[in-house]
Amino acid sequence: MKIKSIISSLFILLLVNSASFAQAIDGSQLWFTNQQHSAKVRTAIPTIVCIQEESATFQIIKEELAESIPALGIGEVSFTQKTAKNIVLVGTLKSKAIASQLNEDELTKLGNDGFIIRRSKGEGTILIAANTEFGTLYGVYEFLRLIKTSSSDLAEIDRIEIPSYHRRVLNHWDNLDGTVERGYAGHSIWKWDELPSTISPRYEAYARANASIGINGAVLNNVNANPDILTKDYLEKVKVIAGIFRPYGIKVYLSVNFSSPKELGGLENSDPLNDQVKAWWNDKADEIYSMIPDFGGFLVKANSEGLPGPQDYGRTHADGANMLADALAPHGGIVMWRAFVYNPDGDDRAKQAYKEFVPLDGQFRKNVIIQLKNGPIDFQPREPFSPMFGAMKYTTLMPEFQITQEYLGFSDHLVFLSTLFEECLNTDTYAEGPNTTIARITDGEVFNDSITAIAGVANIGEDTNWCGHHFAQSNWYAFGRLAWNNKLSSAEIANEWLKQTFTQDADFVAQMQTVMLQSREAVVDYMTPIGLHHLMGWSHHHGPEPWCEIPGARPDWLPTYYHKADSAGIGFDRSTTGSEAVLQYAEPLRSIYDNISTCPEMYLLWFHHLSWDYILHNGNTLWDELCYKYSSGVDRVKVFQQTWDRMEGKIDVQRFKDVQARLAIQATEAMWWRDACLLYFQTFSGKPIPMELERPVHVLEKLKQIKFDMTHHN
Ligand code: GCU
Repeated sequence: MKIKSIISSLFILLLVNSASFAQAIDGSQLWFTNQQHSAKVRTAIPTIVCIQEESATFQIIKEELAESIPALGIGEVSFTQKTAKNIVLVGTLKSKAIASQLNEDELTKLGNDGFIIRRSKGEGTILIAANTEFGTLYGVYEFLRLIKTSSSDLAEIDRIEIPSYHRRVLNHWDNLDGTVERGYAGHSIWKWDELPSTISPRYEAYARANASIGINGAVLNNVNANPDILTKDYLEKVKVIAGIFRPYGIKVYLSVNFSSPKELGGLENSDPLNDQVKAWWNDKADEIYSMIPDFGGFLVKANSEGLPGPQDYGRTHADGANMLADALAPHGGIVMWRAFVYNPDGDDRAKQAYKEFVPLDGQFRKNVIIQLKNGPIDFQPREPFSPMFGAMKYTTLMPEFQITQEYLGFSDHLVFLSTLFEECLNTDTYAEGPNTTIARITDGEVFNDSITAIAGVANIGEDTNWCGHHFAQSNWYAFGRLAWNNKLSSAEIANEWLKQTFTQDADFVAQMQTVMLQSREAVVDYMTPIGLHHLMGWSHHHGPEPWCEIPGARPDWLPTYYHKADSAGIGFDRSTTGSEAVLQYAEPLRSIYDNISTCPEMYLLWFHHLSWDYILHNGNTLWDELCYKYSSGVDRVKVFQQTWDRMEGKIDVQRFKDVQARLAIQATEAMWWRDACLLYFQTFSGKPIPMELERPVHVLEKLKQIKFDMTHHN
């Protein structure tokens, strides 16, 4: 009997172990999927955990350890309040056991979210300590990540981590009707109709995923904000979500419509200098904080793309932002005021946000942060950085990245955005001399800001795998990891994500890491190489439409405004002979970008209009180089397909097939982009595609007739 049960449990064990190969895995578990790891680490981790504190957060800590440690094959966990040798000791100074090991100074230096993980050589005990329970939670997630991804036996650990930014926030562009603006993973995960009574299990799963990578804030609704979010009914729903997030250290924020006092409150106007308007916002803030005491604050899109704002009343962005900031300040809330503005009748679109905001430098309250997209236009596959970074020395700035792939093939294309985020963060603005990187400007190192923040526009929806493409999960993950530590490399992030999400198999990890690291450059090449931008189709922003003309449309919503192709050449002259956008950059960048021969080739057609025969550094003409770049983008995707096919059998069948199918779409669409752009630009250049390159497989006139169907893409 006994032997029989041992045999059957061995059989079950075998089944479980081979599950990742045979069984369907649907991606719903995100980066908690793979709980296996090398035997070396397994032996070195104690299974007795001493926790002397109690709270909802410590309960989560216990559950995480109790779930992961056995799943990792280390053994069953037992919890104790007593210290002993060879244990995992977790907590804050409130725990006597921690207080006996660390002094107050050491812990207060860690701030709200930092932590220490320590095990001295030769000692069994591992210490995970922090100043707060949230710091402790982050420490525990880091500890589990180390076990899952480290190749060392963890016999010695000494880590002190303090996050780069105080506020690490996801922006959901989710509408109250359940749709998601620029969302490609199904409807919104927030079920407003069901709340507050029905609570989707996804809310907690979402909070857990975010906390595991250090994200500590979520703006629940679209920046194109419906005033209704501030009604009592919606605030009751928001309160429930905030309650679920709280023990995970996540604050809720809301996007607000600047006209709310008029629309909701029935006031005559929403003028920020009107006392009734101020009183309305003060009362609203009091109401929100009476329901949600740790509410984070407001995100505001004002006087942008038709939305109301202070300029409607002849006031400035500073007047508007400060009025809201004053309402939130007594409660500790902040205003994230977006700088994504461009007037239809204005100058070169790339210059406009700078022109509106930089003159206001120094006029914003301390609890206002200006939220800035990484580039001066709009989340293109590649843009030079927004020159506002570095130009506003007395105003706190936060970067806004787009995790959802509005302009990068939606969730159909495998694009690891970490390299894009990293490129931006590492860019040297030279605003205060060399090494004034965007990372250092925004994390407070350069200007000593008292609040620092970073935002990412979420790619999350109700799809089973959360993000549409299994690999799109890596972009959510990468945003969180870089928000936590803006010095991490994309290679490290890809490596740890692959190991936790798929498998520890060294060949799989190495090969797919390479694919991930090359994927953003591939999309730049097959969509918008050499500094081209905004060539996509009207409204849907998916496929190529460099020819797009819509009668009566805003010129700066049309591709021709950006590429300016004609028989003489192509590109937007933003140099000192053109729109002079280069003058918004600090020296030496200004001169570097201004001069055709020093301008980095990746930005060439962003800053210059060049002849088709212009000779590049590698000796190719501009036309030939465009052809090579578009083709190399396509070729890379085909190599990604081959690499993926070689991975068959190394991971589960379901995710293997899902990714394989999406790579096929990506390859087809990469060819669509290449052909559409080259055939269209060829009508101006009149030049042949170099003979050694693959011929186009499409006909331009037919491509122009394609009507893109969004229904299959969200
Ligand atoms: C882009 C996007 C819009 C969005 C806007 C914004 O223009 O297409 O859907 O509202 O950015 O960031 O506000």
